[in-house]
Amino acid sequence: MEHALDITLTVNGTPVTRRVQARQHLVDFLREDLGLTGSHIGCEHGVCGACTVRVDGQIVRGCLMLAVQANGCRVETGEGLSDSGELRHLQTAFHRRNALQCGFCTPGMLMAAQDLIRQGSKVSREGIREHISGNYCRCTGYQAIVDAIEEVLQTEASHGQG
Ligand code: FES
Ligand code: FES
Repeated sequence: MEHALDITLTVNGTPVTRRVQARQHLVDFLREDLGLTGSHIGCEHGVCGACTVRVDGQIVRGCLMLAVQANGCRVETGEGLSDSGELRHLQTAFHRRNALQCGFCTPGMLMAAQDLIRQGSKVSREGIREHISGNYCRCTGYQAIVDAIEEVLQTEASHGQG
């Protein structure tokens, strides 16, 4: 018989309590139980980054974390960051630079990119590539993605200089 547990967490700022199967992964919980289908499922074993979400401020693979492990945590998805406006500059830059084609990788890519931007440090193109190296894109060849992230990093840096 399946083992079920009650969990309470916040998802995109909203408190959520649900009974989940002990073996359910966080990304499946977000997609199937909460209808947050912005986080995608690709490889299901931690390689492609399509399922990237933020838990207590850190980006994680939603396919490697169990929903029960998020009990008591603050979970944020692309939907939440998009609604709050946090991803606005990246979304605009991705659009302007044609940094997406099919869009399958894009939510995870934006989460990873925003994680880099939040760090607030100066990063070379090589550093950008390294930071997103765990996020696979089968369409773009990455050049435009790096261009878009670099553009936002430079904009943030110039604002930081006042
Ligand atoms: S679906 Fe999670 S890393 Fe690929
Ligand atoms: S835009 Fe298609 S996988 Fe990246």
